[in-house]
Amino acid sequence: MSEPLVLGIETSCDETGVGIVRGHTMLADAVASSVEEHSRFGGVVPEVASRAHLEAMVPTIERACETAGVRLYDVDAIAVTSGPGLAGALLVGVAAAKALALGLGKPIYGINHLAAHVAVDQLEHGPLPAPCMALLVSGGHSSLLRVEDVTTGVTPLGATIDDAAGEAFDKVARLLGLPFPGGPHIDRMAREGQVTIDFPRGLTSRRDLERHRFDFSFSGLKTAVARWVEARQRDGATIDVADVAASFQEAVCDVLVRKAIDAATDQGIEDILIGGGVAANSRLRVMATERAEARGIRVRVPRPGLCTDNGAMVAALGSELVARGRTPSALDLPADSSQPVTQVVA
Ligand code: KG4
Ligand code: ZN
Repeated sequence: MSEPLVLGIETSCDETGVGIVRGHTMLADAVASSVEEHSRFGGVVPEVASRAHLEAMVPTIERACETAGVRLYDVDAIAVTSGPGLAGALLVGVAAAKALALGLGKPIYGINHLAAHVAVDQLEHGPLPAPCMALLVSGGHSSLLRVEDVTTGVTPLGATIDDAAGEAFDKVARLLGLPFPGGPHIDRMAREGQVTIDFPRGLTSRRDLERHRFDFSFSGLKTAVARWVEARQRDGATIDVADVAASFQEAVCDVLVRKAIDAATDQGIEDILIGGGVAANSRLRVMATERAEARGIRVRVPRPGLCTDNGAMVAALGSELVARGRTPSALDLPADSSQPVTQVVA
C-alpha cells in the first residue's frame, strides 16, 4: 500500500482546522479561526466557538480538499481530535468526522490533541527521534513528556500545577492592555523592549525542586507582574510595556528551557521537541536552541504556523497510526474534554 492519505479535523478550541497529509507529507492545512469573535471577551467563549465550528466545518473541508487536489473518496482514514479541549467544540469535530467516516466507509481515529502537537513536527523534520523529550506548551497545557513512540504512549514527567504557559501570556497581555490572544502580542512587544525586571521563576528554588522538579507554576509570576504594574500606576510612574513584556517573557522561557534541559539530561535523552501554541514564541525558540546546543542536546520546533492549533497535526498523527496498523476507534467514540495525554487514541 502506498503511504496513507489521511484527513484530520481539529476543533478543540477556537480554530476549525482541516489538514490532509500523505505519510509525512502535508498536502493541505486549512484553518478558520473564530478568535476575533472572542477578543472582546478576553478569552474563548465556548458556545461561540462551537457555533463557529459548525459554520466553518464544511467550507474548511472543501478548501482543504481543493488545496490538496484530492477528493474525499480518495482519503484512507479520518482522524479527529477527540480531546482534551472544550466539550461543545470537540463535539462538532467528532460529529463531522463520524459523518465522513460513515458516509465514505473509512476508518475513524479519535486522537489526543496533545500527542498531535508532538506528531506534527514529523511533517517538517521527518521521523521523531526515539526517545525524545517533548515540551508541550499551549493555552491549556504545559507539560514535559517522555515520548518513546507517539502512537503508543507518552509518559508525563511533569505539568503545570496552576496556569498553563499560554494562559499566563494571555493574562499578562490583558493586564498590559494588549489584545487576546496575548502570546503573539507579547512576543512582538518584547522585541522592542529590554529585560529590565527580574520577575520570579516558579518552582525553581531548591526546596520546590525536591517535589516539583519537572512541574511548572506561572500564577505567581502573573501576580508579580500585576503587582509591579499596580505599584507603578499608584506612583503615577510611566510603564514601559515593552520592557515588562520582555522581562515577563524571559522569565517564562527561562523556566521552560531550564526544566526541559534538566528533564532530557536526567533521562539521558538527546533530542527536545517543543510543541503547542507557545512554541511559536520567538524568544523561546532561540533560547532553547542556544542553551540545549551548549549541552549537546538537539532542539526541534515546527514552524510557528504548525505550533498553533491546526488540522494537519491531527492528520499527521492519524497517518502515523494508519501506517503502524493501529486499531481505529469505534464509530460511537465520545468527545472527551479531559482525555489524558497517555490515551493517544480514543
Ligand atoms: O496550542 P494552541 O494554539 O491552543 C491550545 O491548544 O491551547 O495555543 C494557544 C496559546 C495561546 O495562549 C497563545 O497566546 C499562545 O498559544 N501563543 C503564544 C504565541 N503564539 C501563540 N505565546 C507566546 N508567544 C507566541 N508567539
Ligand atoms: Zn493546542
